[in-house]
Amino acid sequence: MFNGQKIVFVSIVDNKSTMMPNFKTRIWHHQKLVNRLLRNSVCVMGRRTFDITHWKGKKSLVLTKNKKWTRFGIGTIHHIDDLHLFTEGTIHVLGGISLFKQFQDYVDEMHLYVLNEREGREPWIKINMNDWKPENYFNRGLWSYAHLIHRKNHDIFGMNEDLFDFKL
Ligand SMILES: NC(=O)c1ccc[n+]([C@@H]2O[C@H](COP(=O)([O-])OP(=O)(O)OC[C@H]3O[C@@H](n4cnc5c(N)ncnc54)[C@H](OP(=O)(O)O)[C@@H]3O)[C@@H](O)[C@H]2O)c1
Repeated sequence: MFNGQKIVFVSIVDNKSTMMPNFKTRIWHHQKLVNRLLRNSVCVMGRRTFDITHWKGKKSLVLTKNKKWTRFGIGTIHHIDDLHLFTEGTIHVLGGISLFKQFQDYVDEMHLYVLNEREGREPWIKINMNDWKPENYFNRGLWSYAHLIHRKNHDIFGMNEDLFDFKL
């Protein structure tokens, strides 16, 4: 939780794979989830991620220090601590790396897409899998999807308590 708001990461862990240089190639399932979230939910992204993706949404915000930066179809915010002044409820963090790092101690839930063909080398956020409970998981060969919920928040969010073996 960050200032009382639930933080959800939506992220591809691509291990700097050449399959996705500069995030130009995407996993369609991830893109569909992002599109749905942009339509109805609060999303936040860094200014560089916006420059690459041009993701826009009526409840979405781009974080930038530049007070003159504006773009049609998306709000801007200049201080991370002001998020609660401009948003209500769950915040979906769409990237990039700098935002995942700044929110890593507050993240409650993650939608992760992992490319399967490479060993993990990327310094993404550190995840202790014992702290996370899988709510959904599937493997599509080239990539896997996992919806993870932090165990400390599991009961608060009213999830069931099934346990099963899980590895990313
Ligand atoms: N794996 C994924 O799911 C995923 C998703 C999205 C993007 N990406 C990748 O992430 C990379 C981009 O990440 P990045 O870390 O370089 O950039 P980023 O996080 O997208 O954006 C960084 C910019 O956001 C603004 N910003 C960040 N923190 C701020 C704060 N506390 N207050 C005010 N402004 C703040 C600054 O903008 P100003 O410079 O304008 O002040 C900063 O330069 C790309 O390679 C992209 O492909 C990966």
